[in-house]
Amino acid sequence: MSLFILGATGLVGAEVVKYGEKSSVFEKVIPLIRRHSKLEGSKISVIEEPDTSKWPEVIANESKSTPIDAFISALGSTRAKAGSAENFRKIDYGINYENFKAAKENGVKTAVLVSSIGANAKSWFLYPQTKGKLEDDVIALGFEHTVILRPGALLGERESAHGWANGAVNTIGRATKGTFFAPVLHPIEGADVAKVAVDFAEKSKMGKLTEKVTIVSAGELVKLASKL
Ligand SMILES: *[C@@H]1O[C@H](CO)[C@@H](O)[C@H](O)[C@H]1NC(C)=O
Repeated sequence: MSLFILGATGLVGAEVVKYGEKSSVFEKVIPLIRRHSKLEGSKISVIEEPDTSKWPEVIANESKSTPIDAFISALGSTRAKAGSAENFRKIDYGINYENFKAAKENGVKTAVLVSSIGANAKSWFLYPQTKGKLEDDVIALGFEHTVILRPGALLGERESAHGWANGAVNTIGRATKGTFFAPVLHPIEGADVAKVAVDFAEKSKMGKLTEKVTIVSAGELVKLASKL
């Protein structure tokens, strides 16, 4: 029973690794990362590969030794961090899509994608457009189960939170949590998004997820997290 994770050094991904480690369902947790990062735990088996173009091959190799049950991606950037719109698309769409595709080709049954509030392939704006296209194309890969989480304003300790406007969202998000604005931005801690992501992966592994495609809105995500 193994859980494969992309984006494990980010705000949500690092928490996915922690919840994976605590899970009684998964025996092995495999974060695939670019650069060395401290991810420790008895079940955690980190794969470091700086060249992301080799990641699909890493997935193929890995699934030959241990079948991968669930694949969670919390990998994402921002236009500012990526340096250009083109690089942003290459990371947020390109890397994610290539690796979900590799996961599907190598027998993974459940895909969980941490997307974003407002994701919409038809949007005129880069961020929601890129996220929306990724959602559509991951769904089209036809996993037995696809779960899309669309968090609102992400809160967390790390400055590298991905989201609409990063620091600004973090500040506004924190200030608005539990206030009048909360129903609009649905601020949520990165750890809570991770908790829900791992819970869906567990449910699918235990046969408790019946839907082929599940899209969880920012508001629903806050409610689900509060129940776990
Ligand atoms: C995948 O496995 C093959 C055969 O063992 C090996 O030659 C190759 O380097 C591996 N690729 C990666 C990216 O680890």
